[in-house]
Amino acid sequence: MINGQSIIEVIQARSSCRTYQETPITLSVQQQLTEFMNAHAVGPMGTRVRLLLVAATEEDRQALKGLSTYGFIKGATGFILGAIPHGDFNQEDFGYVVEHVILYATSLGLGTCWLGGTFAKSRFSAKLELREEELPPAVIATGYCAAKRRVVESIIRRQANADQRLSWERLFFDGAFDVPLSRDVAGHFATVLDMVQIGPSASNKQPWRIIKEGETWHLFMQRTPGYAKRNQVLLGIADMQRLDMGIAMCHFALAAEELGLRGAWVVREPVIEKPDALTEYIVSWKPIPA
Ligand SMILES: Cc1cc2nc3c(=O)[nH]c(=O)nc-3n(C[C@H](O)[C@H](O)[C@H](O)COP(=O)(O)O)c2cc1C
Repeated sequence: MINGQSIIEVIQARSSCRTYQETPITLSVQQQLTEFMNAHAVGPMGTRVRLLLVAATEEDRQALKGLSTYGFIKGATGFILGAIPHGDFNQEDFGYVVEHVILYATSLGLGTCWLGGTFAKSRFSAKLELREEELPPAVIATGYCAAKRRVVESIIRRQANADQRLSWERLFFDGAFDVPLSRDVAGHFATVLDMVQIGPSASNKQPWRIIKEGETWHLFMQRTPGYAKRNQVLLGIADMQRLDMGIAMCHFALAAEELGLRGAWVVREPVIEKPDALTEYIVSWKPIPA
């Protein structure tokens, strides 16, 4: 449950919003969101994410246009800014913590859109008073979503294949990467995996791959060829696909929890042959006996 609502329903209700109403976010909603951010700032791997909700000024909206975000965002009335220190799993934790905040925002009736870009030297980082040792991996646009999608937005969605997701056979496996997982074998976890499948990801690339081994679920990242390099090296921005992995962890853990499936994250790479050099092990979810 989140804000008295089923987390599974909230995950299903979320989609990226790129056109917002002019109505500012009410003070009480701002307060609730800020309280939630403060109470849920630490990721499952231990990174504390520094988060800030700010009202969007016209200058911010203009600045956004120059920041290599591929979608054209119109009229966002708020931004969620965040930064992480360096360290292992810092970007996965950022993905997890921010997605959790996004789901809470969704439950409050807000629209959201993840924005990856070159934020380190932007006015957003100035607002956040970004420290030397911190990285601002992404910014979230928010506000009340306009009821109708603009045509340009429909096109961006189509280009990013936003309404499409990779099939189960491409994402979930039974013991080895060449054995697709059936819903029957997934059992109670079928819904958990559905929630991972519909999660947001940078350019809708869906890098998450999950292998069931006994009762344990191993999460791997299959990088999109050229993607990390293009983003990170050339533009000096965060590793978007690691943020995506944190989002997958968030949807997995929250859906499992709601279904009464108790477990914890552990890092112990299994002996499983990987399909290619682009695939790397991230983390495993192990059940905790009742
Ligand atoms: C880490 C990350 C970065 C993203 N960056 C952008 C962005 O810069 N511009 C944009 O319009 N959408 C961005 N998105 C949104 C994705 O395009 C979107 O999640 C995906 O197409 C799936 O659509 P949905 O969120 O409506 O389910 C980003 C998503 C993630 C997770």
